[in-house]
Amino acid sequence: MKSIAFSSRWLSLSLLILLTSVSAIPHNIPRLGVFDHKSLRDPSDTIPAFVWEDLETYFYNQTLDHFNYNPPSYATFKQRYVINSKYWGGANESAPIFVYLGAEAPIDGDIQFIGFLPENAPNFKALIVYIEHRFYGQSVPLGPVKENQGYFSSAQAIADYAEEVSESCYETIKQSWSVIDEVASQPNGLSILSQRFNTCSPLSDSFELKEYLDGLYSGAAQYDRPPRYPVTVVCGGIDGAPNGTDILGRIFAGVVAARVNRSCYINEHYNYSDDPYGDWDWQTCSEMVIPIGRGSNDTMFFAWPFNLTSFTEDCISSYGVPPRPHWVTTYYGGHDIKAVLQRFASNIIFSNGLRDPYSCAGVLQDISESVVAVYTVNGSHCLDILPTDKSDPQWLTDQRNTEVRIIQGWIDQYYADLLSSSKH
Ligand SMILES: *[C@@H]1O[C@H](CO)[C@@H](O)[C@H](O)[C@H]1NC(C)=O
Ligand SMILES: *[C@@H]1O[C@H](CO)[C@@H](O)[C@H](O)[C@H]1NC(C)=O
Ligand SMILES: *[C@@H]1O[C@H](CO)[C@@H](O)[C@H](O)[C@H]1NC(C)=O
Ligand SMILES: *[C@@H]1O[C@H](CO)[C@@H](O)[C@H](O)[C@H]1NC(C)=O
Ligand SMILES: *[C@@H]1O[C@H](CO)[C@@H](O)[C@H](O)[C@H]1NC(C)=O
Ligand SMILES: *[C@@H]1O[C@H](CO)[C@@H](O)[C@H](O)[C@H]1NC(C)=O
Ligand SMILES: *[C@@H]1O[C@H](CO)[C@@H](O)[C@H](O)[C@H]1NC(C)=O
Ligand SMILES: *[C@@H]1O[C@H](CO)[C@@H](O)[C@H](O)[C@H]1NC(C)=O
Repeated sequence: MKSIAFSSRWLSLSLLILLTSVSAIPHNIPRLGVFDHKSLRDPSDTIPAFVWEDLETYFYNQTLDHFNYNPPSYATFKQRYVINSKYWGGANESAPIFVYLGAEAPIDGDIQFIGFLPENAPNFKALIVYIEHRFYGQSVPLGPVKENQGYFSSAQAIADYAEEVSESCYETIKQSWSVIDEVASQPNGLSILSQRFNTCSPLSDSFELKEYLDGLYSGAAQYDRPPRYPVTVVCGGIDGAPNGTDILGRIFAGVVAARVNRSCYINEHYNYSDDPYGDWDWQTCSEMVIPIGRGSNDTMFFAWPFNLTSFTEDCISSYGVPPRPHWVTTYYGGHDIKAVLQRFASNIIFSNGLRDPYSCAGVLQDISESVVAVYTVNGSHCLDILPTDKSDPQWLTDQRNTEVRIIQGWIDQYYADLLSSSKH
């Protein structure tokens, strides 16, 4: 999901990116980041090294609390922003500014994956500004949000995923959850599973393994993109195992295919205090309550219904606060996005790839003349804003060209409006 919005005089183009990757506590809310930060990343996804040379980093004294007039609210913190002025035509040329509003991650992590801006800035003579989201990376006001006690989690209900997966792969994964539980219940079951999966330390329960696999599969689905198509890679491993391989062996073959050469897999030692993404959990426990869950029949995954009561209990124990599940729709009007946006918004592209499970909550129909949906059937999460590549399929190139054409139309319209109002 993403939206592009314009503001007035300076024609700033904002890519408001809401994205994902795998991880999470206290429930299984997948991230909204541009890339899957744990695995399955394609080397071709990053922008060329020379683009980095054009970047300059600055810090802004940002107000800590914009909505309160008590003295402590006037405190400031350093907010990082990064500028690329190489292509900037200057204010005299009425050139636009492309602004990237940071996602739930450090800004430098995202810059390397956002090809859309540096690739299009030359034609638009645009200035590019990347602004880091507060509480991430180097824009942390009050020290990191309290660390989480919970366990690794991940995943989501991915009904659409099933269609992309081959029948045998699907069946194998579906059966694996019960096989894992069954093995785990035997004496020495956990140590058998630890050996079969070449884990980094003994499993403490079978849930740990299931959760890991759940994260791997949902990450593959969300970022299922060319040229590698992670779902194809994982299923290739599962279906390609030698005849006679049992279910656990096939599942492990899928892990190896995805993660390639490692000395061990699953429950790799993970240092939470090193986690630059940890604050996503705080966000999901405060205002971004995303009620993702799944029943026993919905998907190939083990059942994990969303339960607000237990979710709330988890948030209280992790952060000392209950979430506010209805605040976002109260504030932004998302309860009826069409009714709200058709009168109160302009110049937004809702871009989606339907392979991305999050696209089921995306805007897939035009809402007004300038609030439009541009999606691809085989696209994945944030695919269109990644750097272009020789191997890109035509439908991806077409999607990007459509977006550029729409944006150029906004700019032309803006100056036409300006001209006609100055004549009066
Ligand atoms: C930002 O704040 C620092 C003190 O924290 C101050 O030294 C600096 O002059 C401020 N910068 C601007 C541009 O106001
Ligand atoms: C922009 O236009 C103003 C007024 O015409 C002029 O004084 C200024 O030098 C111009 N700036 C640049 C960078 O061309
Ligand atoms: C497994 O056996 C079937 C026939 O029984 C064969 O078609 C298939 O290619 C074999 N698969 C592998 C991976 O050896
Ligand atoms: C896999 O590991 C072996 C031995 O450590 C190494 O020689 C090989 O280059 C690795 N392959 C890849 C694709 O990383
Ligand atoms: C975890 O990360 C923190 C912060 O970077 C560091 O101080 C600590 O030593 C790390 N712990 C381990 C076990 O690596
Ligand atoms: C799952 O599906 C089966 C077959 O359609 C149905 O009989 C069963 O009641 C369903 N179970 C749940 C929990 O919905
Ligand atoms: C939801 O969670 C609460 C608290 O853990 C539990 O008591 C309740 O049974 C759960 N509801 C369902 C439908 O599982
Ligand atoms: C999407 O991919 C599938 C499988 O590769 C292919 O059969 C289908 O034609 C593609 N659809 C579009 C619209 O590109």
